[in-house]
Amino acid sequence: MTKVEDLYELGDAPEMGTVPTRMYASLIRQERYGQPIDAFRTEVVDVPPVGRGQVLVKVMAAGVNYNNVWAALGSPLDVIAARQKAGAAEDFHIGGSDLSGIVWAVGEDVRGVRLGDEVVVLASRWDESAEDIRLGGEPATSSSQRVWGYEENYGSFAQFAVVDDYMCHPKPARLSWAEAACYMATAATAYRQLFGWPPHTVRPGDPVLIWGGAGGLGSIAIQLVRHVGGIPVAVVSSEERGEFCVKLGAEGYIDRRDFDHWGRLPDASDEAAMNRWLAGARAFGRRFWEVLGERRAPRIVLEHSGADTVPTSIYMCDNAGMVVICGGTTGYNGDVDLRFLWMRQKRLQGSHVAGVREAREVTRLIDQGVIDPCLSRTFGFEEIGLAHQLIHDNRHPAGNMAVLVNAKE
Ligand SMILES: NC(=O)c1ccc[n+]([C@@H]2O[C@H](COP(=O)([O-])OP(=O)(O)OC[C@H]3O[C@@H](n4cnc5c(N)ncnc54)[C@H](OP(=O)(O)O)[C@@H]3O)[C@@H](O)[C@H]2O)c1
Repeated sequence: MTKVEDLYELGDAPEMGTVPTRMYASLIRQERYGQPIDAFRTEVVDVPPVGRGQVLVKVMAAGVNYNNVWAALGSPLDVIAARQKAGAAEDFHIGGSDLSGIVWAVGEDVRGVRLGDEVVVLASRWDESAEDIRLGGEPATSSSQRVWGYEENYGSFAQFAVVDDYMCHPKPARLSWAEAACYMATAATAYRQLFGWPPHTVRPGDPVLIWGGAGGLGSIAIQLVRHVGGIPVAVVSSEERGEFCVKLGAEGYIDRRDFDHWGRLPDASDEAAMNRWLAGARAFGRRFWEVLGERRAPRIVLEHSGADTVPTSIYMCDNAGMVVICGGTTGYNGDVDLRFLWMRQKRLQGSHVAGVREAREVTRLIDQGVIDPCLSRTFGFEEIGLAHQLIHDNRHPAGNMAVLVNAKE
């Protein structure tokens, strides 16, 4: 691989196969941890080396995800300190767990991708030689699994990004760079939540409750459930977001502002408080029936909102159904009334990112036009902090957002 000693402006690059020494990147540093709008700053850093089985991608556009709100806050994990503890030298974080781009250089032993390929990336990285994988474990659940662009450095908020070859998937040709960059992390995660945990996969006629229906995960989940004949019911916090969900295929929506039983459960021995909580949960359940048009409970509940909503999710879930959770936006103390769990034989299932097959399958559905990636807004490179601040404040537009990096539009 030839290297050229140079720095190029965004949008410019040397000949394919050659790589400048330095690049522009949007960095988070520990002294800037805090509100996302102030945490990101464009700096110049060295282009990272490309190892065995890795490719260097010229980033055309990057996706915006919740994980880099957490990275900007430095909480609940100080991602820079965590990596340094594990031996990394860098005192900065380059976030970004979604991209669309062009394979610009390839390392040794790369399979499945070639120079010039237009790709999107699933941000899940693992060590293919890890013992649990060699023993037959699914790579997505390996103890070596890390989220690239969050737990791992050198994400997509930079001119170039280094990824492992298996993380790449063909970019759907019908999509713009921004559309292609916006969807993978949320779409593949939602896909695994809905189809990755048999026998609790969505079947025709299954009611499915979807928290944050207008969010990144929710907007894709609504379409996936409808695609296989399930009945998605969205939860939102505004009429506008509710209408957005209905346009995507939701049977209807519940406005969570109409209820106030959110948060941690009262102590089970406090009968009066427990009865007040139950009244709230029952009212929410009745609203679900109204929207569904029949008295059935959701067979699957798609969770990510966490502490505020987990008690309601467990209560709402049908007998022998599943609450599948991939996040804890409002907190990690998700209280479970165990009586509902065991007496009604429900399943509480953790789910994290996705595997290669799931990423490929959801990309095919997007490529075929069955699923809309729901690009809501495209930002400039200097607006990365703003995009994350909007998510942090829950003021972001419905769907998934992207940032132009080397692409002009
Ligand atoms: N583990 C993984 O692999 C993985 C992958 C993707 C995302 N996640 C996590 O999943 C979460 C959501 O991600 P996203 O991309 O969908 O984010 P998003 O686009 O911000 O959507 C989240 C939605 O949650 C809703 N919400 C906010 N506060 C709420 C509350 N108190 N109660 C109920 N709903 C609330 C909001 O909708 P309304 O205000 O309209 O209700 C918001 O639109 C984040 O915590 C993220 O880190 C995890």
